[in-house]
Amino acid sequence: MIFAANFKTNHTRQSTKAYLESLAFKLSQKRLEDRVLIFPPATALDRYEGDFTVGAQNAYPTRNGAFTGEIGLEQLEEFGIKTILIGHSERREYLCESQEKVAEKYRFFMEEGFEIIYCIGEPLEVRESGEKAVRDYLLAQFQGVDLSYKNVIVAYEPIWAIGTGRSATVEEIASTHAMLKTHMERLLLYGGSVKPANIKEIAAIEGVDGVLVGSASLDVESFSEMIFA
Ligand code: 13P
Repeated sequence: MIFAANFKTNHTRQSTKAYLESLAFKLSQKRLEDRVLIFPPATALDRYEGDFTVGAQNAYPTRNGAFTGEIGLEQLEEFGIKTILIGHSERREYLCESQEKVAEKYRFFMEEGFEIIYCIGEPLEVRESGEKAVRDYLLAQFQGVDLSYKNVIVAYEPIWAIGTGRSATVEEIASTHAMLKTHMERLLLYGGSVKPANIKEIAAIEGVDGVLVGSASLDVESFSEMIFA
């Protein structure tokens, strides 16, 4: 299983350091086949010691240059960061990242050999329109994205399940993952209100290779409870 924590706009450099020190200690006892990825905010990126991978939540597809407020390859290389989240629904929605922009980032970081966690997910009105609508919507989010790239992990995160406390049902996750797996041969994470109370049933679903966790990852006790569940 892969356990990925997306801190979003939470935690400081100081609290991330304390979190990761505590996590590193706990992980020295984890199962060997599990992998842990942590996506702290950009200001907390650093070199950390521990059996986990630290990645960037976002970066601009450039080595460096005039892109006010953004970070590029140069700022990631300083800390040896080689993993990045691309296509998260919050960036698509609030930061107005079009599919074209998302695909451009994907290409750039693919060419740089990054491990990419590529996020897709449908809004509630699409889910309510039925399975075909969901399939069409999700597959459109693969436009311009080369899934033959070996170093990509896909994360399915239904928007209506993110931060709402209401995860998708086991049936919804199982059928969506099964559908997605007929279109790609990549590891597939589920994200959306994953928490200690539902990790076991979500992790047991066929086609779920791991989870991408927001709110319930912010507390190191809660996140490690999921890893050791
Ligand atoms: P929550 O776990 O808070 O629902 O967030 C999921 C998510 O968006 C992870 O990327």
